[in-house]
Formats: sequence, C-alpha cells, structure tokens
Amino acid sequence: MILVGPPGAGKGTQAARLVDTFKIPHISSGDMLRAAVKEGTALGKQADGFMKAGQLVPDDVVIGMILERIAKPDCRDGFMLDGFPRTRPQAEALDQAMTKAGVALDSVVLIEVPDELIVERTTGRRNDPKTGKIFHIKYDPPPAGLEVVQRSDDTVDACSKRLAKYHSETAPIVPFYEQKQILKRVDGVGTPDEVTKRLQKTLGK
Ligand code: AP5
Repeated sequence: MILVGPPGAGKGTQAARLVDTFKIPHISSGDMLRAAVKEGTALGKQADGFMKAGQLVPDDVVIGMILERIAKPDCRDGFMLDGFPRTRPQAEALDQAMTKAGVALDSVVLIEVPDELIVERTTGRRNDPKTGKIFHIKYDPPPAGLEVVQRSDDTVDACSKRLAKYHSETAPIVPFYEQKQILKRVDGVGTPDEVTKRLQKTLGK
C-alpha cells in the first residue's frame, strides 16, 4: 500500500494509525532520511542540503534506500509506503522491482488537502524526538511538559517549495496509478479521526 499526498496532508499521522489495523510496517522515506541525517551517514550527508531547502533528494539515492528496505523479511506480508514514490522514475523503479519479486500493490491512497491548509499544518507541526509522535500546536497539542521539536524544513519558505515540488513532480504519478486502477482518493480535511474512518472505509476495514 502507498500513501500519497502533499506535505502536511496527514500521511504520517494516518500511517501510524493504519499500521495497527493492517499489522504491516510503516516505511516513511522522510523518516529514514531524517534518521540518516541525524546519524551523519554518507546517505544523510548527501540528503541534508536538499531536505533543508525543500528540494527532493535525487532519485537514485532514494530508490536504492527504499528497495533495500522493502526486501527485508518484515515486509514479506506487506508494507505501507509513505512519501515514496514521489516522482515518475521512483514509481517506475518500484513497479519493476515488485514485478520482479512477483508481488503487486493493492492500493495507492491519495489523501487530498487543499493548498491553503498546507502551510498552517506543516509550520504548526511538532514532533516528540523520543517516540517520533506527531503533534500540531493548534489541532493536536503536545501534552504539557513534553519537550517537542520542529523539523528544519517546516519553515514557511521550505514548505512553499515542497508544495511546489509536490505539484510538479509528485502529482504526475497519480495518473500512473489511476491507469492501473488501484488509486483511491480520500478527503484529508476534517479531524484526524474523521480522516482515519474514511481511510478504513475506503480500504475495506
Ligand atoms: P517527508 O517527511 O515525506 O515530508 P512530506 O511528504 O512533505 O510530508 P510531511 O511529513 O510534511 O507531511 P505528512 O503528510 O506526513 O503530514 P503529518 O501527518 O506529519 O519528506 C521530507 C523531505 O525528505 C522531502 O521534502 C524531501 O527532501 C525528502 N524526501 C522524502 N522522500 C523522498 C522521496 N521519495 N524522493 C525524494 N526526496 C524525498 O501532518 C502534518 C501536520 O498536520 C501535523 O502537525 C499533524 O498533527 C497535523 N494534522 C494531520 N492530520 C490533520 C488533520 N486531519 N487536521 C488537522 N491537522 C492535522
């Protein structure tokens, strides 16, 4: 399964809830890249500048990272990708790798949120650095006393660039999956609980 949507659509928030329903690993390319940056690995050093600037990390770097991850044993019964693929070459590379492995995608879920809500959602996001749990200063405030952090790419400037990249690079993968008749659209506006219910219904759970 793949979750697609603009930055701040709620992919990470919803994936954390859906893994309980589906019992499959949640694989977030953004989380993997941020972990690599934090650890200072060669991959992290390569990705850091692109991420801070709201640009996409080059395809070859991300494709290698994700194909290696989904080949691990815990993905044998399925996996939920969040943030990958986000370019046409990434979608094609995933398609080829899955065909080669004899497995197929069940669903590609597009969480739709209008542009005007995106900057408020992303700039208001805060994370618990220990658990990775996602909060929002207005819509889902962290408990009093919990020390939370803000992502370095959650500035107004970087968010606007990420949104522009979403429209130019990622939105074009939607017709690719529409043609395969596995694309499902879900309205991402409403409370997180309302969106979860819509997703579960769409996914037959
Ligand atoms: P990534 O981490 O994937 O960021 P993104 O796609 O921009 O998505 P976000 O994590 O910003 O948003 P989300 O949809 O998960 O929303 P969330 O649930 O947190 O990628 C970051 C960077 O890494 C990229 O810019 C790029 O540089 C690089 N990268 C990653 N993958 C790549 C790839 N495949 N190729 C190349 N480069 C790649 O929610 C957002 C906020 O809204 C939270 O505060 C949340 O509490 C709140 N919220 C959620 N749902 C609701 C709701 N229903 N109502 C109100 N508030 C809500």
